Amino acid sequence: MSSRSLAKLLHPKSAGLQFLQTRCAKTAAAAVSAKQPRIKKFAIYRWDPEKKGDKPKLQTYEVDLNACGPMVLDALIKIKNEIDPTLTFRRSCREGICGSCAMNVAGGNTLACLCKIDTNTSKTTKIYPLPHMYVVKDLVPDMNNFYAQYRAIEPYLKKKNMTEADIGKKQYLQNMQDRAKLDGLYECILCACCSTSCPSYWWNSDKYLGPAVLMQAYRWMIDSRDDFTKERLAMMEDRFTVYRCHTIMNCTKACPKGLNPGKAIGEIKKMLALYNAKEAAKVAEKSSLSA
Ligand code: SF4
Ligand code: SF4
Ligand code: FES
Repeated sequence: MSSRSLAKLLHPKSAGLQFLQTRCAKTAAAAVSAKQPRIKKFAIYRWDPEKKGDKPKLQTYEVDLNACGPMVLDALIKIKNEIDPTLTFRRSCREGICGSCAMNVAGGNTLACLCKIDTNTSKTTKIYPLPHMYVVKDLVPDMNNFYAQYRAIEPYLKKKNMTEADIGKKQYLQNMQDRAKLDGLYECILCACCSTSCPSYWWNSDKYLGPAVLMQAYRWMIDSRDDFTKERLAMMEDRFTVYRCHTIMNCTKACPKGLNPGKAIGEIKKMLALYNAKEAAKVAEKSSLSA
């Protein structure tokens, strides 16, 4: 290096020297803060049906964020492994694919594995199971009704004039445009964050299908290979199954996968309006013929 360029580098105002000074200062600060524990409090919903007379309560745990991964699921696993093995929650993939770690963190439904810990240690993060669901234990909600509703929409390809023996014999191809219509729908992981953030679902989950299941119903209604669109629509005609949706859009806001179940429900309503108009026209035509 020439003496001129060395002088430039060492000049107090040179960008290179300033960069080195800042970097050294940051490294020193990081070394000091690494020694200081960053204690974060988590207040977690606890209830054990096997303990006679147990009442639901919030239990607070302290976790040193310096020794914990960045996500809420990391903190839960750390608590279970190192502090309290009785803490119960579901998880599997830890990367937003299985949908099993859905819960309510700091007031919003989300996947614990995709939710970053709020590093503000002066605030306690509250964690509850998905709202308005029966609780099996601690953070584990009872998903039976949700899965029964999903089963009810027959979430698979249905063909007419087909027997059991035909299954698996033939490929049903789809052009690229029709395939693209399923984007934004098929990615749903059935975590139920959307349905359990929907006020209509809270009050009517026995009769209203809720956003997650309705979005999947729509996904099959518009699949170009499916032959049962009319029948799928017919099952939605009553006052509750789909029309309990009042377009509040909490569902879309809650979806941790960035999907839009509220829009899919809007599309079902449009299809139903068309379907009902056609059915009404058919009835009117029949009655005029018989007159
Ligand atoms: S848009 Fe419909 S499904 Fe979504 S939160 Fe509102 S009422 Fe529920
Ligand atoms: S639409 Fe989103 S929030 Fe709802 S079940 Fe699917 S992935 Fe979960
Ligand atoms: S652990 Fe699978 S989605 Fe969170």
